[in-house]
Amino acid sequence: MAPGVEGQSAWPMMSFRGNCCQSALHGIILNFLSGQKVFFFAAGGIGITPILSMMRHLKNAGVSAFKLYYLTRDAKSTAFLKELADEFPGQVKIHHDNGERDQAMDLWPVFEKPANSYIYCCGPKGLMDLVQDMSGHWPSGNVHFESFGVNAKVNAENKPFKVHLAKSGVRLEVAEHETILDVLRTNGQRVPSSCESGTCGSCRTRLLKGEAEHRDMVLVPEEHSTQIMVCISRSKSPELTLDL
Ligand code: FES
Repeated sequence: MAPGVEGQSAWPMMSFRGNCCQSALHGIILNFLSGQKVFFFAAGGIGITPILSMMRHLKNAGVSAFKLYYLTRDAKSTAFLKELADEFPGQVKIHHDNGERDQAMDLWPVFEKPANSYIYCCGPKGLMDLVQDMSGHWPSGNVHFESFGVNAKVNAENKPFKVHLAKSGVRLEVAEHETILDVLRTNGQRVPSSCESGTCGSCRTRLLKGEAEHRDMVLVPEEHSTQIMVCISRSKSPELTLDL
């Protein structure tokens, strides 16, 4: 475990693209200047990038009354562990859900009492839904969400396709309203998942054949012909063959 960080540790392995949520940085500085005393940060997936930036700004401004709740699938997919441990000892709580919904962190004890505090949340939809649920009783101006990622217009153009599971030879239909992950689950295939919005990297699956329509924010172009995030990406070809 990295010293100063609650939770499990490993060297960060996740790669990031883009730079989201920076608009919140301006707001947090204004809130600090206006006298708000406590900041709660909730981050997941690539949301850690702007949250880390905010924390560094606060630290540089001499503010220490903040804590990060960093919710990730596992240590392997958790970025910036060493930086968080080195720069923010005692101010970071990391929770891994191992891709299981029933292992999600209970944030109610954290957000039960609003007091004179602010919440800034940036991450996958599942995390933002969770924080929203737990902070419904807070003053709306004290809770800030920054979303990123998936283009809703693209999602409106879903087409059906087949997935061929190479190991079993099974062929499955993916309808317009379904994801590959939905169909795999329905048919008894266990694929790890966490964000289910193409941002955490948990559901990475080897693509053996076919042309994927990549909608995630994890894969780099060099990986597009051999990998697919099955929670969100679809197919340009009539069929995709997966290493499952
Ligand atoms: S479950 Fe997070 S990228 Fe698919």
